[in-house]
Amino acid sequence: MTYSIAWLGGDGIGPEVLDAARTVLDAIGFRAEYIPADIGWRYWCEQGNPLPERTVQVLRSTRCAMFGAITSKPASDAARELAPHLRESGRTYASPIVQMRRQFNLYANIRPGRTLLGESKPVDVIVVRENTEGLYAGLEVHPTPQSLVGALDAARRAPHLRECAPEDLALSVRVTTRTGCQRIVARAFELAQSLGRKRVTLVEKANVLRATGGLMTEVARTVAERYPRIEFREAHIDTACMDLVRKPGEFDVIVAENLFGDILSDLVAGLTGGPGIAPSANIGDHYAVFEPVHGSAPDIAGRGVANPCAAVLSAAMMLEWLGERALAARLQAAVATVLARGEVRTPDLGGSDSTKRMATAIIAAAR
Ligand code: IPM
Ligand code: MG
Repeated sequence: MTYSIAWLGGDGIGPEVLDAARTVLDAIGFRAEYIPADIGWRYWCEQGNPLPERTVQVLRSTRCAMFGAITSKPASDAARELAPHLRESGRTYASPIVQMRRQFNLYANIRPGRTLLGESKPVDVIVVRENTEGLYAGLEVHPTPQSLVGALDAARRAPHLRECAPEDLALSVRVTTRTGCQRIVARAFELAQSLGRKRVTLVEKANVLRATGGLMTEVARTVAERYPRIEFREAHIDTACMDLVRKPGEFDVIVAENLFGDILSDLVAGLTGGPGIAPSANIGDHYAVFEPVHGSAPDIAGRGVANPCAAVLSAAMMLEWLGERALAARLQAAVATVLARGEVRTPDLGGSDSTKRMATAIIAAAR
């Protein structure tokens, strides 16, 4: 069977690491039709949209997508870099990867982190991050309409809020739905069950974020009852960060809302060799986008030294999702072998080898 796969290089090192992943996929005999599509900062600056409609159409016509990396900047920087003729159009920048996750309902962001470099504390954690809600839902205002300032007043917030002028107050609202909680927690337990994992930890902050954290906790407890063979634990985000560093062995599968999952997955990446080897999968019921956790790394872009391991491991997650289990396992084992041997290392891992060299080593190990 030939798969049709959207190929979104994006910004900075994105295209370079995807090229490397492509070489590896070809070498292990995976056959697919790859359809390149535009995404990224350039299309924001020149056309006012980092995720052009033609790209959305490519996504709609393919089985899944591989995505490299994206440059995201705060709203004011984005406005400044927009082409002059588009400046009056009232456009605001929204990260295209976040848009894709929401638009294609890719509600589960699966981010495994495993020590592959012989670190002293073994880590083997899978972060299951909610991908469509939370503070990423896009419910934000600045300036804040007077009616909302008034509502805060009524809630008797800190005294300095009462006198706030609209332009002096910004709001980002954390959105949590029962459906959103149910599907992400169920996903985490299903994943744990299918991989024979022993424990799922919900990471929240329900002692302070009572409404949203409370709903997530209530739902998670209910879902957990359906999986009596898997231990369910709860942890606060702050404590979880500390414990992940001190006793990572206590964590197995972690489920968390969007921003907490974002932070936790970088923390886990930091404990397991850094972002250069951290893969991820954005999965919905009908579509999936696979991407390395790392960003576009403009400082090393174009120099051919980016670590392709995260992209290759993301490609392995794609193979798994497509049902190509044997190929996926081969790729994972090949990357693990190369990293454990340590003979070939890109600069992020303390070496001086190139992206190409790393890809070649992975191909050799996969044979
Ligand atoms: C990630 C990234 C993105 C996010 C950025 C680039 C918008 O940090 O995939 O973790 O915050 O989700
Ligand atoms: Mg992140």
